[in-house]
Amino acid sequence: MINNEITKKKVFVETYGCQMNEYDSELVKAILEKKEYAFVKDEREADVVMLNTCAIRENAHRKIYGRVHQIRHERSGKPVMIGLLGCMATNLRQNLLNDRQLKIDFIAGPDSYKRLPDLISHAQETGEKTFDLTLSEFETYSDIFPKREGMINAWIAVMRGCNNFCTFCVVPYTRGRERSRTVANVVAESQQIANQGAKQITLLGQNVNSYHCDGQDFADLINAVSEIEGIERIRFTSPHPKDFPEKLLKTIAQNKKVCKHIHLPLQAGSNRILDLMNRTYTREEFLDLVNKIRDLISNVALTTDIIIGFPTETDAEFDETVDMMEKVRFDSAFIFKYSEREGTIAQRKYPDDIHDAIKTERIVKLNEIQKGIAHQKNLAHIGETLELLMERDATADDPFSKGRTDSNKLVHVQGSFPVGSFVKATITAASPQNLRGAALNKLLI
Ligand code: SAH
Ligand code: SF4
Ligand code: F3S
Repeated sequence: MINNEITKKKVFVETYGCQMNEYDSELVKAILEKKEYAFVKDEREADVVMLNTCAIRENAHRKIYGRVHQIRHERSGKPVMIGLLGCMATNLRQNLLNDRQLKIDFIAGPDSYKRLPDLISHAQETGEKTFDLTLSEFETYSDIFPKREGMINAWIAVMRGCNNFCTFCVVPYTRGRERSRTVANVVAESQQIANQGAKQITLLGQNVNSYHCDGQDFADLINAVSEIEGIERIRFTSPHPKDFPEKLLKTIAQNKKVCKHIHLPLQAGSNRILDLMNRTYTREEFLDLVNKIRDLISNVALTTDIIIGFPTETDAEFDETVDMMEKVRFDSAFIFKYSEREGTIAQRKYPDDIHDAIKTERIVKLNEIQKGIAHQKNLAHIGETLELLMERDATADDPFSKGRTDSNKLVHVQGSFPVGSFVKATITAASPQNLRGAALNKLLI
């Protein structure tokens, strides 16, 4: 009898970028394991190394060039096939194909993973770079469920692509047009995840709340998924401020399983910059939405993304971003320096004219202000008793278990609590980043 495990090619996949890429790497595992491939955890054992790449900001793709050279160097001439997957593949297609210094064997864009077995064997047979960078108008993967490991939270892609064309962003080019899976298909995958023991699911999409399929919208999808027994918490990311009809806000408010946390990317505080970014809302409209959310959903946590130093942003316009942060008081914020991206509208229309020293000054200032706000917001939780879903147990080196509140805050609790259990804890201390709590009872579920 032939031992399949020995004849199988060993594959290692390394993932960069957002949760959609993490999800896609799990899909790639499911696709390749149906063929003659086995996944390994140590890259040095692999016959095939795949880097699932991101292109959102400059440092994301610079890292990949370095990593390919490093892998080749570590192997010092021993054979290994290297493939690039993900957004950088579709973003830099010509450069990657023509760059002779970059020693890669195959390239697959985000919609081409079913072709990976062909691409790998073709590259091996011919010794040439093979590629498939076609983007699809349809959901390509609805008949495959990813191969997931040991999960409390499971990510589920419910829609892909984006039609918004924010002028700074590569995603509409790297991932193509917006398309959604059917509610039935998402429910089937969620049911499978629940059967495997997951407690929480996070619905994923580049613009997740514009989900729509066969007359059903994102609120309908949330309600359908919340019927599944065993799934206790539902999260979603990333939404766009333009897609929050009252029906969706009421669903979030009323459905007990939906976590009371909304990531609401503001990007900038000045109306002129918001317009140049093509964000389609004004600061006034954004503030109205925040007020409406806070009216309807009590104790909701709000987080955001900000870009500073967009082309032509003046000091006064940056101050408007500061002002918005002070008005809204987000629980946390990811703040980025503007980074010009290949193929975007901003690259074509607006020279990247804000000096890096100014970008640094602005990001340092904004981070400092946000840190103060986050600290105050976290301090306000002291004395409250909150329910945590535990995600890391204490160890010999670290006596604190870690769990998350409904509002997505990380709480350190002294003592050992199994991953996946629910624990009630009274908050005793707070830093800008997280909370500390004392457990009341052990297991609730
Ligand atoms: N679909 C998500 C965006 C994902 S990218 C959304 O619309 O919210 C995550 C964040 O990266 C964006 O919200 C933005 O703040 C930042 N980002 C995207 N392109 C960027 C660029 N060219 N330079 C700097 N930051 C960028
Ligand atoms: Fe990019 Fe804008 Fe689409 Fe988000 S909504 S993925 S920032 S184009
Ligand atoms: Fe990066 Fe693509 Fe995600 S550009 S952030 S991996 S959608």
